[in-house]
Order: sequence, then C-alpha cells, then structure tokens
Amino acid sequence: AVRLTGTKYGCGGGGCGACTVMVSRYDPQTKNINHWSVNACLLPVCQLHGAAVTTVEGIGSTKTKLHPVQERIAKAHGSQCGFCTPGMVMSMYTLLRNNPQPTMEDVTEGLAGNLCRCTGYRPIVDGYRTFCEVNSSRPEVKDQTTQRFCGERMTWISPGSLNELLHHCDIYPIGIFHPVIISPTQVPELFKVTQKPEGVCVGAGCSMSFLKSVLERSINDFPPESTHMFRALLQQIKLVGGQQIRNVATLGGNIASAYPNSDLTPILAAGRCTLVALSKDGRRRVPIDKDFFLGFAKTVLKPDEIVLSVFIPASRPNEIVHAFRHAPRKESALATVNAGMRVWFNENSNVVKEISIYYGGVGATILSADRACQQIVGRPWEEATLSDVYSTLVDEIKLGPSAPGGKVDFRRSLTLSLFFKFNLLDVTQVDIPQKMQSAIQPLPKHIQPGYQEFQNVLEGQSAQDPVGRPMMHRTALSQATGEAVYCDDLPQTDGELFLVIVTSSRPHAKITEALKLPGVVDVITAKDIPGKRFRTFTGYDEELLAEDEVTCVGQMVCAVVADSKAHAKRGAAAVKISYEDLQDRIFTVEEAIEKESFFLPRRQIERGDVEKGLREIRIGGQEHFYLETQSFLVIPIGEEKEMKVYLSTQHPAFTQEAVAETLGIPSNRVSCHVKRLGGAFGGKVTKTAILASITAVAASKTGRPVRCVLERGEDMLITGGRHPVWGIYKVGFMKDGRITAADFQYYANAGNVVDESVLVAEKILLHLDNAYNIPNLRGRSAACKTNLPSNTAFRGFGVPQCMLVVESMIDDVALKLGRLPEEIREINMYKEVSLTHYKMEFDPENLVRCWNECMKKADFRQRRQGIDLFNQQNQFKKRGIAIVPIKYGIGFAEAFLNQAAALVHIYKDGSVLVSHGGTEMGQGIHTKVQQVASRELNIPTSLIHISETSTQCVPNTCPSAASFGTDANGMAVKDACQILYNRLEPIRKKNPKGTWQNWIITAFLQKISLSATGYYRGHDLDMDWEKQEGKPYAYFTYAVGCSEVELDCLTGEYRTLRTDIVVDIGRSINPSIDIGQIEGAFMQGLGLYTMEELKFSPSGVLYTRGPSQYKIPSFCDVPLKFNVYLLAGSSNPHAIYSSKGIGEPTVFLGSSVFFAIKDAVTAARKDAGLTGPFQLNSPATPERACLACVAQSESTSGPAQPWALNI
Ligand SMILES: Cc1cc2nc3c(=O)[nH]c(=O)nc-3n(C[C@H](O)[C@H](O)[C@H](O)COP(=O)(O)OP(=O)(O)OC[C@H]3O[C@@H](n4cnc5c(N)ncnc54)[C@H](O)[C@@H]3O)c2cc1C
Ligand code: FES
Ligand code: FES
Repeated sequence: AVRLTGTKYGCGGGGCGACTVMVSRYDPQTKNINHWSVNACLLPVCQLHGAAVTTVEGIGSTKTKLHPVQERIAKAHGSQCGFCTPGMVMSMYTLLRNNPQPTMEDVTEGLAGNLCRCTGYRPIVDGYRTFCEVNSSRPEVKDQTTQRFCGERMTWISPGSLNELLHHCDIYPIGIFHPVIISPTQVPELFKVTQKPEGVCVGAGCSMSFLKSVLERSINDFPPESTHMFRALLQQIKLVGGQQIRNVATLGGNIASAYPNSDLTPILAAGRCTLVALSKDGRRRVPIDKDFFLGFAKTVLKPDEIVLSVFIPASRPNEIVHAFRHAPRKESALATVNAGMRVWFNENSNVVKEISIYYGGVGATILSADRACQQIVGRPWEEATLSDVYSTLVDEIKLGPSAPGGKVDFRRSLTLSLFFKFNLLDVTQVDIPQKMQSAIQPLPKHIQPGYQEFQNVLEGQSAQDPVGRPMMHRTALSQATGEAVYCDDLPQTDGELFLVIVTSSRPHAKITEALKLPGVVDVITAKDIPGKRFRTFTGYDEELLAEDEVTCVGQMVCAVVADSKAHAKRGAAAVKISYEDLQDRIFTVEEAIEKESFFLPRRQIERGDVEKGLREIRIGGQEHFYLETQSFLVIPIGEEKEMKVYLSTQHPAFTQEAVAETLGIPSNRVSCHVKRLGGAFGGKVTKTAILASITAVAASKTGRPVRCVLERGEDMLITGGRHPVWGIYKVGFMKDGRITAADFQYYANAGNVVDESVLVAEKILLHLDNAYNIPNLRGRSAACKTNLPSNTAFRGFGVPQCMLVVESMIDDVALKLGRLPEEIREINMYKEVSLTHYKMEFDPENLVRCWNECMKKADFRQRRQGIDLFNQQNQFKKRGIAIVPIKYGIGFAEAFLNQAAALVHIYKDGSVLVSHGGTEMGQGIHTKVQQVASRELNIPTSLIHISETSTQCVPNTCPSAASFGTDANGMAVKDACQILYNRLEPIRKKNPKGTWQNWIITAFLQKISLSATGYYRGHDLDMDWEKQEGKPYAYFTYAVGCSEVELDCLTGEYRTLRTDIVVDIGRSINPSIDIGQIEGAFMQGLGLYTMEELKFSPSGVLYTRGPSQYKIPSFCDVPLKFNVYLLAGSSNPHAIYSSKGIGEPTVFLGSSVFFAIKDAVTAARKDAGLTGPFQLNSPATPERACLACVAQSESTSGPAQPWALNI
C-alpha cells in the first residue's frame, strides 16, 4: 500500500537476503537504539510492534541524496541486474549503523546472508572495502501490555508478562495446531543474562547475535582456562545462517525445534548445559543431553512448557571443549555434520575422567557416541585408546543407505575426521608433528583487493565519446536505491487477479479425475485455451497444460486464479488430481539408453579415424537461480482482443508469438514489454513464453488483468536448468604427450520435453575440441528423454559440459604419463591458423597469447614449485593449481537469429529515445547501446534514454542470448543513428557552430524526419550436419583462467586462494561491464563445477527447491585474490567497434577451480600411494573431493535404494 517496492522477494525462506531491511528498537535499559538487519520475508509484521523499519528507500534516493552505501556499490560496478542490490545495501547499511568502521571480516560476515547471481561478488567487496579502516542487539522490553492482532485466519498474541505467556501456553499447548501464534518478545525474563563464577545463564529469548555478544563478554570476564566452552559455542554461533538469521533466531527456538542439524545442540549437550523448563505447574532444571532429544523435532518438554533460560557452564580445570561443523558452503548453510566434544582429564595426567561426544546431522536427532566415550574413560589419551575409539565410532555411527540427505559414506567419514581434529587440537598438550598440524589449521579466508587491467581508449578519442570507457551500469544508482522497477513492482491494476500454477506430483501417470475446487476461484485447464494448446520446438510439441498424461513431477496441469496471491495459493493447494501411474518411468541417462529414449535427431561429427570410448565423467545439472523469479502481468485492453504483457523475458518477440498463438489472435494484438530482468542466464526464454501464455489465457478468460510471480520453489521445479551430461571418451596419445585421436559420446538428460535440448546437443559437438588440435576426432551426442522436468538453455548452452569432458581427458593423459596437465594442454593447443573439426578456419594467435599472458601474470611456474613444497610439508591440507583455456564460438548457427533492429527517435528538445531488441538482464546491454548511440550521434550519454524493450517499438526481435546481444543490437542502433546523423549533415554544415539542440529544432522546422529504424542483417552462419562442416560462428572469444586452491583432505572443504583470468575481448566497449560479466560468469562456473547439486528423489521429485537446499556461491567462495586482465592489442573485424561477445565464455573458466581441486586431490592420493588417472565427477563437492583423496573402498551404504537419484 505504501508502494515501497525496493525490498525484493527472492526466496521467501531467509536464504537469499534480497528482502533485507533494518529493524530498530529503543532499549530503555541502555537508552540506546539497537539496529538489526533482518529478512523481511521471515519476520511476522506483528512482531514489529514498537519497532521502526527502514527499507532501502529510507536511506537515500536519486531524487534527494544517495547514501554512500548505495553510491559505492553502484560506482564499484557491484550491481548488474540489481535484484540483490537493495538487500546488499541494507545489510551493509545496518552494519555501519552499528559499527561505523568495520573490518573486512565484519563486512563479509555482515553480507554472508546475501546472495548475488550476477556479479561474482568481487566488485561488491571492493566497493564496501572502502568503509573499512584498517552491540549489543537486544530486543526491547518496553510496552508490557499484551498485544493481540487478528488476521483472516490467525491471531497473534504477544503476552506482556511471563505469567500471561504461561497462561497462553496452557490454553494453546505446543504440538497441536491452533490458529494462534504466541510471540514472547515482551517477556523480560526470557532476555535476562546472569553471570556467575560457574557459568552464564542466558534467557531463551535471546537472539544468536545477542548470545554472541554475551559470550564475547564472558570470554573477556572469565579466566582463559574457563572459557573453552564459551569459545566453542561462539565459533558455532558465528556460522548459524547469515547475519539476518542470527539477528532473529533465538536460543530457545533453536533448542526447542530439535532440528537434527542444529549447530547449537551438539555443543550445548557436550558442554554440560542445562535449561530451565517452565509451565504453570512449576519449573524444572533439565540437562540438555541425549535424553532431552527424543527424535526428529521432539524433546522431553511438555506441551505447556517453555524454555526459560539456558545455563552454559564455564570449563573446569583440565577440561577441554571444541565444536566442529562441516557444511556444503562455508557460510550461510546448514551443516552436513557437526559435533560438540568435551574431555575432562584427571589432574596432572592424561587419563580421561569424563568425555562427551555429540554429533549432529547423522540421524533424526543429535547422537551421543556413548560406546566410543566408554572406551576412553579411565584410560590415558594415547594412540591405543584412540584407535579403539575410531573403530567403535565406525560401528556406532550408523547411517542407512537411504538416510535422508544422502552423502552416507561422506557423513560417516566426517564423524571420524572431526574426532581426529579434536584429538589434534591441544587435547593431548603435546607437540604435533609439523606435517600433521595442517589438519587443524583453518583455511585462509582474508579477501584481498582484486586487480583489473584493461586498455585505455585510443589516443585522440574525444573526451565525450564513451566507447571503450568503464562507464557505470546506466541504472546502477536506481537499482541501489530500490527505485529500479521490475515486473512485480508494477502497481496493482484495477480488478487484478493472481495466478498460481498447479503441478503434477507424479513422474509418469494418466490424469484420471476431473479437477475440482471450491468455487471461489477460477481454474484454467488446457480446455480453456482458445488457440494452440502446445508450443513446438525442433519438431516436438510441448503441451502448455497437461491434458491426459503427465510425464514428470512438476509438469503444469492447471492454474488457479484468485483475487489475491494468498487466496490463489490456498485454492491451488485445494486442487485434487487423481493419477493412474504408468510403469515405464525413466530418470537416468542409463535408463534412457537402455530404452532408446532420445529426442531426434542425434548428431555425430567426425574427422580422421577413431575407436570406441572407455573413460567417463559426469557433470551435474545447474539451476539458473536468477534472483528474480519468473514474473508476468497480462492486461486485457478490452477492445479488439488486445493484450499487454509485462514480463521478465530474454525473448519478448517469442512470447508475443506464443501468446498470440495460444489465444488464437494475430500477433499485432499482443504487445510484450520488458523493463529489465532480475537475472536470466538462459532460463527466461522458452518456459517464460509458456508461463506467459497460460497467464494470458487466464486474463482472456476472466477479462481481468492477471499477475503471476512464481515462488522460488515453483520456479526451480517447473523451469528446468542446465543439462546434466554423461561424457564417455577414449583417447590415443604418444609418449611425448601429443593426442592423436579422441572419441567422445555425450548423453544429456533432457527431461520430459525437448525444449532446446537437441540444439544443446549440437552445440556440445561444435565445442568438443575446446582449444586443442586433435587430428582424429569423433563426437556423438544424444538428448535423452526422461521423466524429469525438462532442461533448457543455460549460459554456455552445453559448452561448459562438453569442455569439462575434453579437459578431463587431458588430465587423464597427464596422469597416465606422469606429467603435468598444463604441459599436455600446451602441447596440444591450436597454435597456427587451423581448421576446426567442422572445417572452419580460424587463427588461434590470441588464444596462445592469452595462455602465455596468464602463465606469466599468475606466476604459474614459480607457484607450482611453491605448491609442491607446501604439499610435501603438509599431510592433511593440499594445494592444487590448474590453468585452462577456452575457445568459444560467438553467434547463432541458425543464421536468421543473428539479425537485429532498432528504433531511434530524436525529440525536439534534443533528447533521444533508443529502442532495440535486446533485453537488459544485468549484462549491461542498454549501457553499451547508449555508448554506441552517444558515439554515433556525437552527443553526451545524458541525452540518451532507453525505456524498455517492447515488441511495439521493435518487432520480430531475436533472443538476448548466445553472447550476441550487443554485437547485433549495437550494430542496429549504430545503423539507425548513422541514418539520423546523415540526415542532419546539411544542417550541421550550414551551422557548424550550432548546438545539437539548434540542429534538431532546425531539422524539425525543415521537415526532416527525426526518427529512424536501424537494421543489422548479421552474419550468414550455418552448419551442415549431413556434411559435418560449416561456419556456425562469427568468431571466437578466447580466454585462459588459472586458479589455486587449498583443500582440507579430512573434510573436502576448500578455498580458492587465487584466480587470474586473461580474456581476449577485442576492444571492449565498456571494460567495467565486460569485467563484471567475466567475474560473474566465472563464479557461476565455480558453482557449477564445485558446489551446486540438484537432487531428485528415487521417484523423480526435486528435493532442492530453494537456497537452503541448493547452494550457489556466496561471498565466502570468492577467490581470495581475483585478478582479471583484458588482452591488450586485440581487435575483431567481425563485431561492433572491434569488440567481442563475453556473456557466456568464461563460465567454463570456473573449471580451473575444479581442476585445481583435482590437482590437490592428486597430491593427497600420491601420499596414499595412488597414482594414475582417477574419476572425479562434477561438481567436485567437498564430499567427492574428500572421498577421492583415498582409495575408493566398497561403499558402506549397501545396495539398497539411495536417497537421491544419480541422474
Ligand atoms: C535461512 C535459515 C538458516 C538457518 N541456518 C541455521 C544454521 O546454520 N544452524 C542452525 O543451528 N540453525 C539454523 N537455522 C535454524 C534457526 O537457528 C532456528 O530456526 C531458530 O533458532 C529458531 O528460533 P526462533 O526464535 O525463530 O524459533 P521459532 O521458529 O519461533 O520456534 C521454533 C519452535 O520452537 C518453539 N519455541 C521457540 N521458543 C521457545 C521457548 N522459549 N520455549 C519452548 N519452545 C520454544 C516454537 O514453539 C516452535 O515450535 C536456520 C534457519 C533459517 C530460516
Ligand atoms: S526473500 Fe527473504 S531471504 Fe530471500
Ligand atoms: S546483481 Fe546481484 S543478483 Fe543480479
């Protein structure tokens, strides 16, 4: 209602930080105002009674004054699509309100709960580093009268006193559903902290952030030997969620929810903590131990009991306490396994008096290793005792093969590794051999400033001409202030309805029962579609809404429209679909091969003689995770069937066509409008058109505007992602490292419908050589039809998958020959003018230059020696380094997709409006196009505006994809501007001293048209698959990336210490935007190859439907040193102003981290006596890296059905 749309909604689960706002409260005791960053999506509005909320609009705006936090993120190029930016701004702003001179560690800690999918984080870190020069957060207890808020379905009660709280808990006992929420934030006793010599008593209502400050104070107040427990707990608390979660998550809530992965409960239990449970019947002190936790989310607390406080004891003399945690991401991720361990020795002895070991993440509740502990008590802490403990732990910590969460072998191995670390951590008080110390040393984490190098503009270029200069993204400031408008920010229209999609819950079934629903809302089914009920891709039909049969879980079956989002969601939940399961379900590529389930045609490409394949690698899929989910607003104009479609798409013309066909109306009645996208990465083309068509059917049927914004979980389920690929290969090579022949077979898991899968499979074949000249080469690829949600385009379009296969092959050759992978790469790289395997001629000079430059800039050979030394000196930490090249074809092999058009208007005041076919999704196309127009019209960029991409201004556009957006649209805008400039020529000649405004008004008076369309025909590219030859690309972008990692072999955790990237981008139109694309793509590649895992249940249900289950890189994953160099002295005659396309290529450079991990694993394997090639699948998660460090033993998980599919 207040139209503050700056705060964004990215996930609704506290996992992305896009919704971060600042909450402030006055504390009457300290007379301070305390500030917290919080996730607005999680915080109930009733809880804000008496608090002030500051959103991004409240701190500055482009209309008044910018706050430095907004200005610096924009000017540091830290905002691309901008959807994450308001959240980043508010996290940083709150940090500065509490701590005006933070350290870099404070900054990264404060931003750990904020995700960005575009920038690669480096520019944000660098922008906010400028605030660093080298609190307490307690809820207010002010208004102590009971507050009550009544909503449509729920009542919120905030009792004013402890007695009242107990009274309400008595009436509404926990564990039974009441339409009542009791919030205890006003009860002072729940926030009381008392310190005694024996320990600290903390109120259960205290937040993690407040508990952190209590523990920090206690560590100062108590003698150091008494603080082991405080330190251990503090270490865990710092890693609970992100800052926004820690600011609101309470100690009591964490304990009472009895979640098996809680980071607190294992250490509280090991550390002898107790709690006070209170009800109307009285209080009791209860130990927090194995008897307290009864099972998943169950404790011994009675339904009417609350946790009043928790007592944290100080450590006794000779008592040592430690906490451990391993998570899929270093920060803001739930632990895979965590542990609390405590040992108490007899005085002046190493004989154990008492020991306690608790694990989390290995069962339905925390687990006490009782039998292992019994092995130790009364015995000296020495090798023989400990070896008994390890064998007992192996027996005691059991995980069934189908254990929820999977990773069974890894989790079991972690339980041993964590105990091993405990043993080394000053427990024995004896010197640990130097080589073993690496087991307990933390991985480095200090982020250093990044370095970026690019060419200056040519001498003599006019100061006004912006081409080649690092101009800020043209709307970065509005993005940082929250003024930038995204689809869902459009104001509500009169009579607007909301649409929610209902999806199939079965992988392959007949729909047997008609859909039923209580009548308050309308339901849209396939029968309501007036026009075409399917879209056709590469010869296959894809139903918009399933009619008779569903072929995957998540297939769209119908849609519910209602007067609000909440009502539509409830309506959708009430829809009942009956199924009759069909038997022949296919999930994996192996099953598809067995049943010959493929989308045709299957392509092959070959040169020379090759034989069959032997080795293999699997590359997992990837979720786009654009921060802005799919969003639509369709408005029926009410006359002549006209429809206005506002949406977030990369391909407005395609959506226009789809909507028109679906409604059975001509395209001239449908207009699509795209202001900007909050990220896309290939995921907003095909599925977007289908979703827009369904929304349009609803708008057409009801005659009312309809909005549809997918929830994160729906988006992840419905829209598919990058294809998982199984690559099988055989390679022939000489002793000197020359590869003579290679044979590749790729199977891509396409999902249930074809989408763009056949095209992806083709592009895989066109890039299978990467940068290597292999004389005899064969590639075959297949898009496998399975009963999983259909996969689609994703930045790189199959290239990141196929290139990993060839690079793995290179690695194998190196390992087989006992040589370094970089040598084999160098030997086989294209070096002179050559023909690709599809007979396209090219000159690899700049590829070789990138390689040599990267070797030099990264100081590769010197560092390789340093790494060897490090690895000799450290047993449990290994370093690895890798350098990988890329040759990436730019343009569409389908020639017609390379065209573009533009429309440029000059108004009488001299201002210019540019429209073109490209969409702005963070990649900065509008900024670059503005630079082009500025150069061509010879006017400052301030006179040029780009409002939106609209099918009404520029028809029949091509998608913003294939890294070709600026190449094509830039040329079209250039054409239009040149036409206009030439029209003005006579006027300029006549009045050379006149101003732009004079000339324009004169032109108008002389009846010269001030509007022009521009057109670019594009390259005539083609690929003849019959002849296996063609020129499918306009040119190649070359790049080389080098990364070094440090790997903890005991846990598989790693850190990227340094990355250097050299890219041949011709002459960059805007170096800062291009570097942003390079860094962002690299980080997306790092996610693909090392951390992002999509998990499906054995019945094809996607488990990973949000940021809590699916981890994309965060601040903590940025290389500690991240340098990017644009190759000097390069030009490109095939694209505008000699530039090159860069959106996609460097995704693959993320694999330098994958191969660096593999290099580190190789070093660990060498210590274990293992040499030669070994298989490491992608992503190289901590689980895979850790298990690969040792010989692959028989899985302990047994033959039963695993928790997740291996797709
Ligand atoms: C995005 C995200 C990330 C997270 N990451 C982590 C993590 O890394 N590590 C980790 O350990 N946890 C993590 N959590 C869990 C988080 O710590 C807990 O959700 C939180 O501590 C619960 O506290 P609350 O005050 O919000 O409780 P609520 O959600 O309000 O309550 C949880 C349950 O506890 C009961 N309860 C609450 N207070 C009391 C009390 N005083 N007495 C009796 N019963 C009570 C409630 O009735 C309810 O059943 C994460 C949560 C989110 C959303
Ligand atoms: S929308 Fe709130 S954290 Fe993602
Ligand atoms: S700029 Fe961060 S998500 Fe796009």
